[in-house]
Amino acid sequence: MALSLAEAKSNLQSRGFLDTFVDPTLDLFAEIEKLKKEKNAVILAHYYQDPDIQDIADYVGDSLGLSQQAAQTDADVIVFAGVHFMAETAKILSPDKTVLLPDLKAGCSLADSCPPDKFEAFKKLYPGHIVVTYVNCTAEIKALSDIVCTSTNAVQIIESIPKDQPIIFAPDKNLGAYLIKKTGRDMVLWDGACMVHEIFSLEKITRLQERHPHAVLIAHPECEAPILDKAAYIGSTAGLLKYTQVNDAKEFIVATEAGIIHQMRKKSPNKTFIPAPPNNSCACNDCPHMKLNTLEKVYLCMKYSSPEVNLEADLIERSKKSIERMLDISARFGL
Ligand code: 13P
Ligand code: SF4
Repeated sequence: MALSLAEAKSNLQSRGFLDTFVDPTLDLFAEIEKLKKEKNAVILAHYYQDPDIQDIADYVGDSLGLSQQAAQTDADVIVFAGVHFMAETAKILSPDKTVLLPDLKAGCSLADSCPPDKFEAFKKLYPGHIVVTYVNCTAEIKALSDIVCTSTNAVQIIESIPKDQPIIFAPDKNLGAYLIKKTGRDMVLWDGACMVHEIFSLEKITRLQERHPHAVLIAHPECEAPILDKAAYIGSTAGLLKYTQVNDAKEFIVATEAGIIHQMRKKSPNKTFIPAPPNNSCACNDCPHMKLNTLEKVYLCMKYSSPEVNLEADLIERSKKSIERMLDISARFGL
């Protein structure tokens, strides 16, 4: 029996093949708005996404803001324009909702640097330690953790732990080293890092500062210590954005993924934002994972309700506690 076009498409779709051709004459902004209404969908986008995706999103924010939105939305479908661990976190917090990720291959080098089997063995080396993990890790790692944190709330999370309680911090050694300095706590660090934030060249930044003596260097705490030591301000993406709005300087050198500059320019159109240069000639301060998502893929994932992020109920149960603890502590601090 001959299949209808819709049946053939759904058949292909169920086998992982999607019609990825998008008619170039389509007004994707209008189509996506239509799909939002049809499917009662909300688009949550991280600051590192392409400007078009940020502009069509219902909410643009940092990792903490995105997880708070995912926990409280009443939409049926969450389109997560970010990377896999973020969409997983949304699914853990809203397990009854459909969570779509425009490109399932949008991973994270930092999350990849912490495989669960190796981390479990590492944990056993430090009995009696509480485990704090940066949200940039897989659901399996969150299940092995006591409290999750983001770069917005990491200091408050560490300071909420009794002083005599030893701590393991994973997976980002740069954020970990920054937190040790900031809180005075001695923590055992997992040896992980983000490929984007480790690429900045101190030498090129120094030369840039000589050419722009009034430019203020601001950096994400995933950067290495020599960059952080030179920064006038260190903070999460939301923190960096806020700083550029309230600080009187007219020029900023931005040491984080370049996507955030879109919001900085929108909020402060009369200021100049210079992406911190990487230590080679490629555009390495674009996160290759974040940038896998495109406006076309956002449209396609909404149209076909695929690819979807799904997790075993047992994993959701085991990983939920550490994220909820983070949200509780954040709320206590008004974050
Ligand atoms: P924040 O947006 O929480 O600062 O995180 C940055 C990041 O690296 C996300 O992958
Ligand atoms: Fe992961 Fe780094 Fe990309 Fe953030 S910028 S998603 S930490 S690889």
